[in-house]
Amino acid sequence: MKKFWWQDTIIYQVYLRSFQDSNGDGIGDLNGVISRLDYLKDLGVDTLWISPHYDSPMDDNGYDVRDFYKVSEDYGTIEDFKNLLNEAHKRNMKIITDLVLNHTSDEHPWFEAAKDPNHPEHEKYHDFYIWQPPKHDKNGRRMMPTRWKSWFGGPVWQYNEATDEYYLHIFSKKMPDLNWRNKTMREELKTMIKWWVDLGVDGFRVDASNHLEKNWDFPDGHPGYEHFSSLPKHHEYLEELGREIFRPNNLLVIGEAGGASREEALQYAGFDTTEFDMLIQFEHCWVDTDDDNELTPGKWAKGTVDVTKIKQSFNHWHDVFKENGWNTVYWHNHDQPRIVSHYGDDAQYHNRSAKMLLYTLYFLPGTPIVYFGEEIGMTNVDYQKLDDFKDVEVFTEYDNFMNNGASHEVAMQALRDRSRDNARSPMQWNDSKYAGFSNSAPWMPVNGNYETINVQRQLNEKDSIFNHFKKVLQTRKKDALAHGTVEFYDIDHPQSFNYKVSTDNVEYLVLANFKDQKLTMELPESIAAYKLYLSNMKTDANALEFEPYEARVYRRKK
Ligand code: GLC
Ligand code: CA
Repeated sequence: MKKFWWQDTIIYQVYLRSFQDSNGDGIGDLNGVISRLDYLKDLGVDTLWISPHYDSPMDDNGYDVRDFYKVSEDYGTIEDFKNLLNEAHKRNMKIITDLVLNHTSDEHPWFEAAKDPNHPEHEKYHDFYIWQPPKHDKNGRRMMPTRWKSWFGGPVWQYNEATDEYYLHIFSKKMPDLNWRNKTMREELKTMIKWWVDLGVDGFRVDASNHLEKNWDFPDGHPGYEHFSSLPKHHEYLEELGREIFRPNNLLVIGEAGGASREEALQYAGFDTTEFDMLIQFEHCWVDTDDDNELTPGKWAKGTVDVTKIKQSFNHWHDVFKENGWNTVYWHNHDQPRIVSHYGDDAQYHNRSAKMLLYTLYFLPGTPIVYFGEEIGMTNVDYQKLDDFKDVEVFTEYDNFMNNGASHEVAMQALRDRSRDNARSPMQWNDSKYAGFSNSAPWMPVNGNYETINVQRQLNEKDSIFNHFKKVLQTRKKDALAHGTVEFYDIDHPQSFNYKVSTDNVEYLVLANFKDQKLTMELPESIAAYKLYLSNMKTDANALEFEPYEARVYRRKK
Protein backbone atom coordinates (compact mmCIF):
# COMPACT_ATOMS: atom_id res chain seq x y z
CA MET A 1 0.00 0.00 0.00
CA LYS A 2 1.43 3.35 -1.04
CA LYS A 3 1.68 6.15 1.52
CA PHE A 4 0.98 9.79 0.87
CA TRP A 5 0.33 12.61 3.31
CA TRP A 6 -3.14 13.18 1.95
CA GLN A 7 -4.37 9.69 2.78
CA ASP A 8 -4.75 10.55 6.44
CA THR A 9 -5.90 14.11 6.10
CA ILE A 10 -9.37 15.51 6.62
CA ILE A 11 -10.37 18.09 4.05
CA TYR A 12 -12.83 20.91 4.64
CA GLN A 13 -14.19 22.94 1.76
CA VAL A 14 -14.39 26.66 2.43
CA TYR A 15 -16.72 28.57 0.15
CA LEU A 16 -14.70 31.74 0.57
CA ARG A 17 -17.43 34.24 -0.17
CA SER A 18 -19.66 32.86 2.57
CA PHE A 19 -17.38 31.65 5.33
CA GLN A 20 -16.26 34.66 7.38
CA ASP A 21 -16.13 38.36 6.62
CA SER A 22 -13.31 40.19 8.40
CA ASN A 23 -13.67 43.79 7.21
CA GLY A 24 -17.40 44.45 7.34
CA ASP A 25 -18.17 44.60 3.61
CA GLY A 26 -20.51 41.60 3.84
CA ILE A 27 -18.23 39.35 1.81
CA GLY A 28 -16.21 36.47 3.21
CA ASP A 29 -12.45 36.85 2.80
CA LEU A 30 -9.00 35.37 3.41
CA ASN A 31 -8.46 37.10 6.73
CA GLY A 32 -11.81 35.69 7.80
CA VAL A 33 -10.54 32.19 7.08
CA ILE A 34 -7.35 32.88 9.05
CA SER A 35 -9.44 33.92 12.04
CA ARG A 36 -11.20 30.54 11.96
CA LEU A 37 -8.20 28.25 11.57
CA ASP A 38 -8.21 27.36 15.25
CA TYR A 39 -11.88 26.49 15.09
CA LEU A 40 -11.20 24.18 12.14
CA LYS A 41 -8.20 22.62 13.78
CA ASP A 42 -10.32 21.93 16.86
CA LEU A 43 -12.96 20.27 14.68
CA GLY A 44 -10.27 17.91 13.42
CA VAL A 45 -9.72 19.35 9.96
CA ASP A 46 -6.22 19.61 8.54
CA THR A 47 -6.57 20.54 4.88
CA LEU A 48 -8.65 23.40 3.51
CA TRP A 49 -9.89 23.53 -0.04
CA ILE A 50 -10.55 27.19 -0.80
CA SER A 51 -12.97 28.06 -3.62
CA PRO A 52 -11.56 30.46 -6.27
CA HIS A 53 -9.78 33.42 -4.73
CA TYR A 54 -8.66 35.00 -8.02
CA ASP A 55 -9.53 38.39 -9.45
CA SER A 56 -12.91 38.04 -11.15
CA PRO A 57 -16.01 39.98 -12.17
CA MET A 58 -17.86 37.30 -10.12
CA ASP A 59 -20.35 36.20 -12.73
CA ASP A 60 -19.96 32.68 -11.27
CA ASN A 61 -18.51 33.66 -7.88
CA GLY A 62 -14.93 33.50 -9.04
CA TYR A 63 -15.02 30.50 -11.38
CA ASP A 64 -14.78 33.23 -14.04
CA VAL A 65 -11.15 34.28 -13.61
CA ARG A 66 -10.02 37.69 -14.90
CA ASP A 67 -6.45 37.53 -13.59
CA PHE A 68 -4.96 34.24 -12.39
CA TYR A 69 -2.09 36.01 -10.63
CA LYS A 70 -4.16 38.40 -8.57
CA VAL A 71 -6.27 37.87 -5.47
CA SER A 72 -9.79 39.26 -5.81
CA GLU A 73 -10.18 42.58 -4.01
CA ASP A 74 -13.30 41.07 -2.45
CA TYR A 75 -11.10 38.50 -0.70
CA GLY A 76 -7.94 40.44 0.18
CA THR A 77 -4.42 40.74 -1.18
CA ILE A 78 -1.58 38.44 -2.10
CA GLU A 79 -0.08 39.30 1.31
CA ASP A 80 -3.24 38.01 2.97
CA PHE A 81 -2.96 34.85 0.90
CA LYS A 82 0.66 34.32 1.94
CA ASN A 83 -0.39 34.94 5.47
CA LEU A 84 -3.08 32.29 5.21
CA LEU A 85 -0.49 29.79 3.94
CA ASN A 86 1.81 30.70 6.79
CA GLU A 87 -0.80 30.53 9.49
CA ALA A 88 -2.08 27.23 8.18
CA HIS A 89 1.38 25.70 7.91
CA LYS A 90 2.22 26.85 11.44
CA ARG A 91 -0.71 24.76 12.62
CA ASN A 92 0.31 21.80 10.49
CA MET A 93 -2.56 22.45 8.14
CA LYS A 94 -2.51 22.48 4.34
CA ILE A 95 -4.17 24.73 1.80
CA ILE A 96 -5.36 23.58 -1.57
CA THR A 97 -6.91 26.03 -4.03
CA ASP A 98 -9.34 25.75 -6.88
CA LEU A 99 -7.72 25.62 -10.29
CA VAL A 100 -10.01 26.77 -13.08
CA LEU A 101 -8.52 25.66 -16.38
CA ASN A 102 -11.46 25.06 -18.68
CA HIS A 103 -12.36 28.71 -19.23
CA THR A 104 -11.58 32.27 -18.21
CA SER A 105 -13.75 35.31 -17.70
CA ASP A 106 -14.67 37.22 -20.87
CA GLU A 107 -12.90 40.10 -19.09
CA HIS A 108 -9.58 38.27 -19.04
CA PRO A 109 -7.01 40.16 -21.15
CA TRP A 110 -6.58 37.08 -23.37
CA PHE A 111 -10.22 37.18 -24.33
CA GLU A 112 -10.24 40.96 -24.72
CA ALA A 113 -7.53 40.48 -27.35
CA ALA A 114 -9.15 37.39 -28.84
CA LYS A 115 -12.48 39.01 -29.61
CA ASP A 116 -11.12 42.26 -31.05
CA PRO A 117 -9.49 42.13 -34.54
CA ASN A 118 -7.95 45.56 -33.91
CA HIS A 119 -6.16 44.49 -30.76
CA PRO A 120 -2.36 44.38 -31.32
CA GLU A 121 -2.19 40.82 -29.97
CA HIS A 122 -5.35 39.53 -31.63
CA GLU A 123 -3.49 36.98 -33.76
CA LYS A 124 -1.92 35.27 -30.77
CA TYR A 125 -4.92 35.19 -28.47
CA HIS A 126 -7.76 34.50 -30.88
CA ASP A 127 -6.75 30.85 -30.96
CA PHE A 128 -6.68 30.62 -27.14
CA TYR A 129 -10.47 30.24 -27.34
CA ILE A 130 -12.90 28.22 -29.45
CA TRP A 131 -14.56 29.98 -32.38
CA GLN A 132 -16.93 28.89 -35.11
CA PRO A 133 -18.47 30.78 -38.02
CA PRO A 134 -22.26 31.19 -38.03
CA LYS A 135 -24.53 28.87 -39.98
CA HIS A 136 -27.40 30.29 -41.98
CA ASP A 137 -30.94 29.04 -42.49
CA LYS A 138 -32.59 28.97 -45.89
CA ASN A 139 -33.69 32.59 -45.53
CA GLY A 140 -30.12 33.63 -44.85
CA ARG A 141 -30.71 34.23 -41.15
CA ARG A 142 -27.77 33.69 -38.84
CA MET A 143 -27.83 30.47 -36.81
CA MET A 144 -25.65 29.03 -34.08
CA PRO A 145 -23.10 26.40 -35.17
CA THR A 146 -24.81 23.66 -33.11
CA ARG A 147 -27.67 23.27 -30.63
CA TRP A 148 -25.40 22.24 -27.77
CA LYS A 149 -26.70 23.28 -24.37
CA SER A 150 -24.62 24.90 -21.64
CA TRP A 151 -24.50 23.49 -18.10
CA PHE A 152 -26.24 26.63 -16.90
CA GLY A 153 -29.27 26.23 -19.14
CA GLY A 154 -28.90 28.35 -22.33
CA PRO A 155 -26.96 27.72 -25.57
CA VAL A 156 -23.18 27.24 -25.53
CA TRP A 157 -22.61 29.79 -28.30
CA GLN A 158 -22.34 33.55 -28.05
CA TYR A 159 -22.08 35.77 -31.12
CA ASN A 160 -19.13 38.18 -31.45
CA GLU A 161 -19.96 40.95 -33.91
CA ALA A 162 -16.37 42.14 -34.40
CA THR A 163 -15.16 38.84 -35.89
CA ASP A 164 -18.55 37.58 -37.12
CA GLU A 165 -18.02 34.38 -35.17
CA TYR A 166 -19.48 32.53 -32.23
CA TYR A 167 -17.37 31.57 -29.23
CA LEU A 168 -18.01 28.47 -27.17
CA HIS A 169 -18.94 28.65 -23.49
CA ILE A 170 -20.16 25.47 -21.80
CA PHE A 171 -20.96 27.47 -18.64
CA SER A 172 -22.13 31.12 -18.62
CA LYS A 173 -21.59 33.41 -21.59
CA LYS A 174 -19.13 35.36 -19.48
CA MET A 175 -16.95 32.21 -19.29
CA PRO A 176 -15.48 31.47 -22.74
CA ASP A 177 -13.87 28.02 -23.01
CA LEU A 178 -10.12 27.82 -23.53
CA ASN A 179 -8.65 25.96 -26.48
CA TRP A 180 -6.48 23.25 -24.96
CA ARG A 181 -5.16 22.23 -28.37
CA ASN A 182 -3.19 25.48 -28.39
CA LYS A 183 0.26 24.74 -26.97
CA THR A 184 1.11 28.37 -26.19
CA MET A 185 -2.05 28.60 -24.12
CA ARG A 186 -1.14 25.45 -22.23
CA GLU A 187 2.34 26.79 -21.52
CA GLU A 188 0.89 30.00 -20.10
CA LEU A 189 -1.39 28.05 -17.79
CA LYS A 190 1.50 25.85 -16.67
CA THR A 191 3.56 28.92 -15.82
CA MET A 192 0.66 30.18 -13.76
CA ILE A 193 0.20 26.88 -11.92
CA LYS A 194 3.91 26.73 -11.09
CA TRP A 195 3.74 30.26 -9.77
CA TRP A 196 1.17 29.21 -7.15
CA VAL A 197 3.14 26.07 -6.33
CA ASP A 198 6.24 28.20 -5.74
CA LEU A 199 4.22 30.42 -3.47
CA GLY A 200 3.57 27.38 -1.28
CA VAL A 201 0.10 25.98 -1.98
CA ASP A 202 -0.18 22.31 -1.09
CA GLY A 203 -2.39 21.22 -3.94
CA PHE A 204 -5.38 21.89 -6.12
CA ARG A 205 -8.91 20.91 -6.89
CA VAL A 206 -9.07 20.95 -10.68
CA ASP A 207 -12.36 22.44 -11.80
CA ALA A 208 -14.37 20.92 -14.66
CA SER A 209 -11.38 18.79 -15.59
CA ASN A 210 -13.23 16.39 -17.90
CA HIS A 211 -14.35 19.16 -20.23
CA LEU A 212 -10.97 20.39 -21.45
CA GLU A 213 -11.24 18.68 -24.85
CA LYS A 214 -14.08 19.32 -27.32
CA ASN A 215 -15.26 17.59 -30.48
CA TRP A 216 -13.76 19.89 -33.09
CA ASP A 217 -16.01 18.54 -35.85
CA PHE A 218 -18.83 20.33 -34.02
CA PRO A 219 -21.53 17.81 -34.89
CA ASP A 220 -25.04 18.99 -34.10
CA GLY A 221 -26.97 17.52 -31.18
CA HIS A 222 -29.02 18.51 -28.17
CA PRO A 223 -27.99 18.85 -25.41
CA GLY A 224 -24.78 17.51 -26.97
CA TYR A 225 -22.89 17.02 -23.68
CA GLU A 226 -20.97 14.11 -25.21
CA HIS A 227 -19.23 16.55 -27.53
CA PHE A 228 -17.55 18.43 -24.70
CA SER A 229 -17.33 15.92 -21.85
CA SER A 230 -14.82 13.16 -21.12
CA LEU A 231 -13.31 13.02 -24.62
CA PRO A 232 -10.17 10.83 -24.54
CA LYS A 233 -7.73 13.59 -25.44
CA HIS A 234 -8.33 15.55 -22.22
CA HIS A 235 -6.30 12.88 -20.42
CA GLU A 236 -3.25 13.91 -22.44
CA TYR A 237 -3.52 17.44 -21.12
CA LEU A 238 -3.96 16.30 -17.54
CA GLU A 239 -1.15 13.81 -17.82
CA GLU A 240 1.14 16.62 -18.98
CA LEU A 241 0.23 18.74 -15.95
CA GLY A 242 0.64 15.78 -13.63
CA ARG A 243 4.01 14.74 -14.97
CA GLU A 244 5.49 18.22 -15.11
CA ILE A 245 3.93 19.90 -12.09
CA PHE A 246 1.67 17.88 -9.80
CA ARG A 247 3.76 14.77 -9.12
CA PRO A 248 7.20 16.37 -8.70
CA ASN A 249 5.85 18.75 -6.04
CA ASN A 250 4.19 16.31 -3.62
CA LEU A 251 0.87 18.06 -4.08
CA LEU A 252 -2.61 16.79 -3.41
CA VAL A 253 -4.54 17.13 -6.64
CA ILE A 254 -8.23 16.34 -6.76
CA GLY A 255 -9.99 16.25 -10.11
CA GLU A 256 -13.60 17.11 -10.67
CA ALA A 257 -14.95 14.68 -13.25
CA GLY A 258 -18.62 13.77 -13.13
CA GLY A 259 -19.74 10.50 -14.68
CA ALA A 260 -16.36 8.73 -14.81
CA SER A 261 -16.40 4.99 -15.54
CA ARG A 262 -14.20 2.57 -13.60
CA GLU A 263 -11.52 2.57 -16.30
CA GLU A 264 -11.55 6.30 -16.59
CA ALA A 265 -11.44 6.80 -12.85
CA LEU A 266 -8.30 4.70 -12.66
CA GLN A 267 -6.83 6.64 -15.53
CA TYR A 268 -7.39 9.85 -13.59
CA ALA A 269 -6.45 8.76 -10.13
CA GLY A 270 -4.91 5.29 -10.11
CA PHE A 271 -1.58 4.98 -8.29
CA ASP A 272 0.15 4.13 -11.58
CA THR A 273 -1.02 7.19 -13.48
CA THR A 274 0.12 10.74 -13.09
CA GLU A 275 -3.03 12.81 -13.51
CA PHE A 276 -4.72 13.22 -10.12
CA ASP A 277 -4.54 11.75 -6.63
CA MET A 278 -8.24 11.68 -5.99
CA LEU A 279 -11.46 12.09 -7.86
CA ILE A 280 -14.70 13.90 -7.27
CA GLN A 281 -17.55 12.26 -9.17
CA PHE A 282 -21.20 12.91 -8.47
CA GLU A 283 -22.81 9.52 -8.68
CA HIS A 284 -24.43 9.56 -5.24
CA CYS A 285 -25.40 13.23 -5.34
CA TRP A 286 -28.67 13.02 -7.28
CA VAL A 287 -30.41 9.77 -6.38
CA ASP A 288 -33.75 11.52 -5.98
CA THR A 289 -34.76 12.99 -9.31
CA ASP A 290 -38.11 12.47 -10.98
CA ASP A 291 -37.83 11.91 -14.72
CA ASP A 292 -41.49 12.61 -15.40
CA ASN A 293 -41.48 16.17 -14.21
CA GLU A 294 -41.86 18.51 -17.17
CA LEU A 295 -42.09 21.83 -15.34
CA THR A 296 -38.77 21.62 -13.50
CA PRO A 297 -36.88 18.78 -15.23
CA GLY A 298 -33.52 17.15 -14.55
CA LYS A 299 -31.92 17.74 -11.15
CA TRP A 300 -34.70 20.23 -10.37
CA ALA A 301 -37.35 17.51 -10.13
CA LYS A 302 -37.72 16.11 -6.64
CA GLY A 303 -38.33 12.38 -6.34
CA THR A 304 -37.79 9.98 -3.43
CA VAL A 305 -34.30 9.29 -2.13
CA ASP A 306 -33.07 5.96 -3.47
CA VAL A 307 -31.03 4.67 -0.53
CA THR A 308 -29.92 1.56 -2.38
CA LYS A 309 -28.31 3.68 -5.07
CA ILE A 310 -26.30 5.61 -2.51
CA LYS A 311 -24.97 2.41 -0.93
CA GLN A 312 -24.21 0.87 -4.31
CA SER A 313 -22.35 3.97 -5.36
CA PHE A 314 -20.24 4.06 -2.17
CA ASN A 315 -19.52 0.38 -2.55
CA HIS A 316 -18.59 0.78 -6.20
CA TRP A 317 -16.12 3.60 -5.59
CA HIS A 318 -14.56 1.82 -2.67
CA ASP A 319 -14.06 -1.15 -4.94
CA VAL A 320 -12.64 0.89 -7.83
CA PHE A 321 -9.91 2.42 -5.71
CA LYS A 322 -9.33 -0.18 -3.01
CA GLU A 323 -6.07 -1.52 -4.39
CA ASN A 324 -4.84 0.74 -7.07
CA GLY A 325 -5.87 4.20 -5.96
CA TRP A 326 -7.52 6.20 -3.24
CA ASN A 327 -11.13 7.06 -2.57
CA THR A 328 -12.74 10.31 -1.45
CA VAL A 329 -15.82 10.41 0.74
CA TYR A 330 -18.14 13.41 0.78
CA TRP A 331 -21.81 14.22 0.62
CA HIS A 332 -21.65 17.27 -1.60
CA ASN A 333 -19.97 20.56 -2.46
CA HIS A 334 -21.07 24.09 -3.40
CA ASP A 335 -22.99 22.83 -6.43
CA GLN A 336 -25.60 20.69 -4.66
CA PRO A 337 -28.22 21.36 -1.97
CA ARG A 338 -27.38 21.01 1.74
CA ILE A 339 -27.26 17.35 2.67
CA VAL A 340 -29.57 17.48 5.70
CA SER A 341 -32.30 19.07 3.58
CA HIS A 342 -31.58 16.88 0.57
CA TYR A 343 -31.27 13.36 2.04
CA GLY A 344 -32.30 13.99 5.64
CA ASP A 345 -35.02 16.08 7.24
CA ASP A 346 -34.37 19.73 8.06
CA ALA A 347 -37.50 20.12 10.21
CA GLN A 348 -38.78 17.64 12.81
CA TYR A 349 -35.75 15.32 12.62
CA HIS A 350 -33.07 17.89 11.90
CA ASN A 351 -30.64 16.92 14.62
CA ARG A 352 -31.20 13.18 14.34
CA SER A 353 -31.00 12.98 10.57
CA ALA A 354 -27.91 15.20 10.43
CA LYS A 355 -26.16 12.75 12.76
CA MET A 356 -27.44 9.79 10.76
CA LEU A 357 -25.82 11.34 7.67
CA LEU A 358 -22.64 11.89 9.64
CA TYR A 359 -22.34 8.25 10.75
CA THR A 360 -23.34 6.75 7.41
CA LEU A 361 -20.62 8.63 5.55
CA TYR A 362 -17.69 9.34 7.80
CA PHE A 363 -16.81 5.84 8.94
CA LEU A 364 -16.08 4.90 5.33
CA PRO A 365 -12.47 4.43 4.21
CA GLY A 366 -10.80 7.13 2.09
CA THR A 367 -10.20 10.84 2.51
CA PRO A 368 -13.23 12.83 3.66
CA ILE A 369 -14.20 16.25 2.34
CA VAL A 370 -16.48 18.08 4.75
CA TYR A 371 -18.48 20.95 3.28
CA PHE A 372 -18.54 24.09 5.40
CA GLY A 373 -21.57 24.27 7.69
CA GLU A 374 -22.19 20.54 7.43
CA GLU A 375 -20.70 20.18 10.92
CA ILE A 376 -23.66 22.07 12.40
CA GLY A 377 -26.30 20.73 10.04
CA MET A 378 -26.86 23.90 8.02
CA THR A 379 -29.95 23.63 5.83
CA ASN A 380 -31.22 24.78 2.45
CA VAL A 381 -32.16 28.45 2.18
CA ASP A 382 -35.58 29.81 3.11
CA TYR A 383 -35.60 32.64 0.53
CA GLN A 384 -38.98 33.99 -0.53
CA LYS A 385 -37.86 36.51 -3.16
CA LEU A 386 -36.19 35.64 -6.45
CA ASP A 387 -33.54 38.31 -5.97
CA ASP A 388 -32.40 36.80 -2.66
CA PHE A 389 -30.84 34.15 -4.90
CA LYS A 390 -27.48 35.04 -6.45
CA ASP A 391 -26.32 32.16 -8.62
CA VAL A 392 -26.07 32.85 -12.36
CA GLU A 393 -27.64 29.43 -13.01
CA VAL A 394 -30.76 30.27 -11.01
CA PHE A 395 -31.92 33.00 -13.33
CA THR A 396 -31.71 31.11 -16.64
CA GLU A 397 -33.37 28.11 -15.04
CA TYR A 398 -36.14 30.20 -13.46
CA ASP A 399 -37.01 31.49 -16.94
CA ASN A 400 -36.93 27.94 -18.29
CA PHE A 401 -39.40 26.78 -15.59
CA MET A 402 -41.76 29.65 -16.38
CA ASN A 403 -41.53 28.86 -20.09
CA ASN A 404 -42.38 25.24 -19.30
CA GLY A 405 -45.58 26.49 -17.69
CA ALA A 406 -44.57 26.43 -14.01
CA SER A 407 -46.11 28.96 -11.61
CA HIS A 408 -43.86 31.38 -9.76
CA GLU A 409 -44.44 29.35 -6.55
CA VAL A 410 -43.47 26.08 -8.18
CA ALA A 411 -40.35 27.65 -9.66
CA MET A 412 -39.36 29.20 -6.31
CA GLN A 413 -39.85 25.89 -4.52
CA ALA A 414 -37.58 24.15 -7.04
CA LEU A 415 -34.92 26.79 -6.34
CA ARG A 416 -35.25 26.31 -2.57
CA ASP A 417 -34.99 22.55 -3.00
CA ARG A 418 -32.30 22.18 -5.62
CA SER A 419 -30.36 25.31 -6.54
CA ARG A 420 -26.67 25.66 -5.83
CA ASP A 421 -27.39 28.73 -3.69
CA ASN A 422 -28.72 26.40 -0.99
CA ALA A 423 -25.16 25.50 -0.11
CA ARG A 424 -23.82 29.04 -0.36
CA SER A 425 -25.61 31.09 2.29
CA PRO A 426 -23.33 32.57 4.96
CA MET A 427 -21.84 30.42 7.70
CA GLN A 428 -23.89 30.54 10.90
CA TRP A 429 -21.43 31.29 13.67
CA ASN A 430 -23.73 32.67 16.35
CA ASP A 431 -27.14 34.22 16.98
CA SER A 432 -26.18 37.87 16.52
CA LYS A 433 -27.55 39.81 13.57
CA TYR A 434 -25.99 38.37 10.38
CA ALA A 435 -25.07 35.24 12.33
CA GLY A 436 -21.54 36.40 13.20
CA PHE A 437 -20.60 36.12 9.55
CA SER A 438 -20.35 39.88 9.15
CA ASN A 439 -21.40 43.04 10.89
CA SER A 440 -23.10 44.41 7.82
CA ALA A 441 -25.65 42.94 5.41
CA PRO A 442 -24.04 39.91 3.70
CA TRP A 443 -23.79 39.57 -0.08
CA MET A 444 -26.44 36.88 0.19
CA PRO A 445 -29.02 36.67 3.00
CA VAL A 446 -28.31 34.57 6.09
CA ASN A 447 -30.66 31.63 6.53
CA GLY A 448 -33.50 32.56 8.90
CA ASN A 449 -32.74 29.59 11.18
CA TYR A 450 -29.38 31.00 12.35
CA GLU A 451 -30.66 31.69 15.86
CA THR A 452 -31.13 27.98 16.48
CA ILE A 453 -28.56 26.48 14.10
CA ASN A 454 -25.18 28.06 14.82
CA VAL A 455 -21.68 27.15 15.91
CA GLN A 456 -21.65 28.96 19.23
CA ARG A 457 -24.70 27.16 20.48
CA GLN A 458 -23.45 23.76 19.37
CA LEU A 459 -20.01 24.23 20.88
CA ASN A 460 -21.74 24.49 24.24
CA GLU A 461 -24.05 21.49 23.87
CA LYS A 462 -22.42 18.21 24.67
CA ASP A 463 -24.64 16.25 22.33
CA SER A 464 -24.74 18.71 19.43
CA ILE A 465 -24.20 17.78 15.78
CA PHE A 466 -20.89 19.64 15.99
CA ASN A 467 -19.65 17.59 18.94
CA HIS A 468 -20.67 14.35 17.29
CA PHE A 469 -18.81 15.48 14.18
CA LYS A 470 -15.72 16.16 16.19
CA LYS A 471 -15.89 12.78 17.84
CA VAL A 472 -16.33 10.98 14.52
CA LEU A 473 -13.39 12.82 12.95
CA GLN A 474 -11.21 12.03 15.97
CA THR A 475 -12.25 8.40 15.74
CA ARG A 476 -11.30 8.24 12.06
CA LYS A 477 -7.84 9.45 12.92
CA LYS A 478 -7.28 7.44 16.04
CA ASP A 479 -8.21 4.19 14.35
CA ALA A 480 -6.88 5.10 10.88
CA LEU A 481 -10.25 4.31 9.33
CA ALA A 482 -9.10 5.91 6.07
CA HIS A 483 -7.18 2.68 5.45
CA GLY A 484 -9.99 0.29 6.34
CA THR A 485 -12.11 -1.92 4.16
CA VAL A 486 -15.87 -1.82 4.02
CA GLU A 487 -18.55 -4.43 3.71
CA PHE A 488 -22.19 -3.41 3.21
CA TYR A 489 -25.04 -5.49 4.61
CA ASP A 490 -28.37 -5.82 2.79
CA ILE A 491 -27.18 -3.44 0.14
CA ASP A 492 -30.46 -3.73 -1.76
CA HIS A 493 -32.58 -2.81 1.22
CA PRO A 494 -34.41 0.43 0.41
CA GLN A 495 -34.33 1.85 3.93
CA SER A 496 -31.44 0.55 6.01
CA PHE A 497 -27.87 1.75 5.64
CA ASN A 498 -25.68 -0.86 7.31
CA TYR A 499 -21.98 -1.51 6.94
CA LYS A 500 -18.91 -2.78 8.68
CA VAL A 501 -15.52 -1.13 8.46
CA SER A 502 -12.46 -3.08 9.49
CA THR A 503 -8.84 -2.25 10.00
CA ASP A 504 -6.17 -4.57 11.38
CA ASN A 505 -7.12 -3.63 14.93
CA VAL A 506 -10.71 -2.63 15.09
CA GLU A 507 -14.15 -3.00 13.57
CA TYR A 508 -17.00 -0.53 13.44
CA LEU A 509 -20.54 -1.45 12.62
CA VAL A 510 -22.81 1.33 11.41
CA LEU A 511 -26.52 0.53 11.47
CA ALA A 512 -28.91 3.22 10.30
CA ASN A 513 -32.47 3.84 9.30
CA PHE A 514 -32.19 6.30 6.41
CA LYS A 515 -35.90 7.19 6.29
CA ASP A 516 -38.58 8.96 8.32
CA GLN A 517 -40.49 5.73 9.06
CA LYS A 518 -39.76 3.15 11.71
CA LEU A 519 -37.82 0.12 10.67
CA THR A 520 -37.30 -3.27 12.26
CA MET A 521 -33.92 -4.75 11.46
CA GLU A 522 -32.23 -8.02 11.98
CA LEU A 523 -29.04 -7.31 13.86
CA PRO A 524 -25.99 -9.28 12.73
CA GLU A 525 -25.28 -12.31 14.89
CA SER A 526 -21.91 -10.96 15.90
CA ILE A 527 -23.54 -7.95 17.54
CA ALA A 528 -22.93 -9.30 21.02
CA ALA A 529 -19.20 -8.87 20.53
CA TYR A 530 -19.57 -5.14 19.89
CA LYS A 531 -20.15 -2.20 22.20
CA LEU A 532 -22.41 0.69 21.32
CA TYR A 533 -20.04 3.53 20.54
CA LEU A 534 -22.29 6.34 19.31
CA SER A 535 -25.96 6.88 18.64
CA ASN A 536 -28.10 9.77 17.56
CA MET A 537 -30.76 9.20 20.22
CA LYS A 538 -31.30 7.39 23.50
CA THR A 539 -31.51 3.78 22.54
CA ASP A 540 -31.13 0.21 23.62
CA ALA A 541 -28.07 -1.27 21.91
CA ASN A 542 -29.94 -4.49 21.23
CA ALA A 543 -33.28 -3.08 20.13
CA LEU A 544 -34.41 -4.36 16.75
CA GLU A 545 -36.70 -1.46 16.18
CA PHE A 546 -35.17 1.71 14.72
CA GLU A 547 -36.97 5.03 15.04
CA PRO A 548 -37.09 7.41 12.04
CA TYR A 549 -33.48 8.25 11.09
CA GLU A 550 -32.12 6.38 14.08
CA ALA A 551 -28.49 5.42 13.63
CA ARG A 552 -26.03 3.54 15.84
CA VAL A 553 -22.33 2.90 15.65
CA TYR A 554 -20.86 -0.16 17.39
CA ARG A 555 -17.21 -0.91 17.97
CA ARG A 556 -15.05 -3.86 18.83
CA LYS A 557 -11.34 -4.48 19.13
CA LYS A 558 -9.96 -7.34 17.13
C1 GLC B 1 -17.47 23.46 -11.50
C2 GLC B 1 -17.71 24.23 -10.23
C3 GLC B 1 -18.92 25.10 -10.41
C4 GLC B 1 -18.65 26.07 -11.53
C5 GLC B 1 -18.24 25.33 -12.81
C6 GLC B 1 -17.64 26.27 -13.80
O1 GLC B 1 -18.47 22.55 -11.76
O2 GLC B 1 -17.82 23.38 -9.14
O3 GLC B 1 -19.27 25.79 -9.24
O4 GLC B 1 -19.80 26.84 -11.79
O5 GLC B 1 -17.29 24.33 -12.58
O6 GLC B 1 -16.38 26.71 -13.39
CA1 CA C 1 -14.84 41.05 3.53
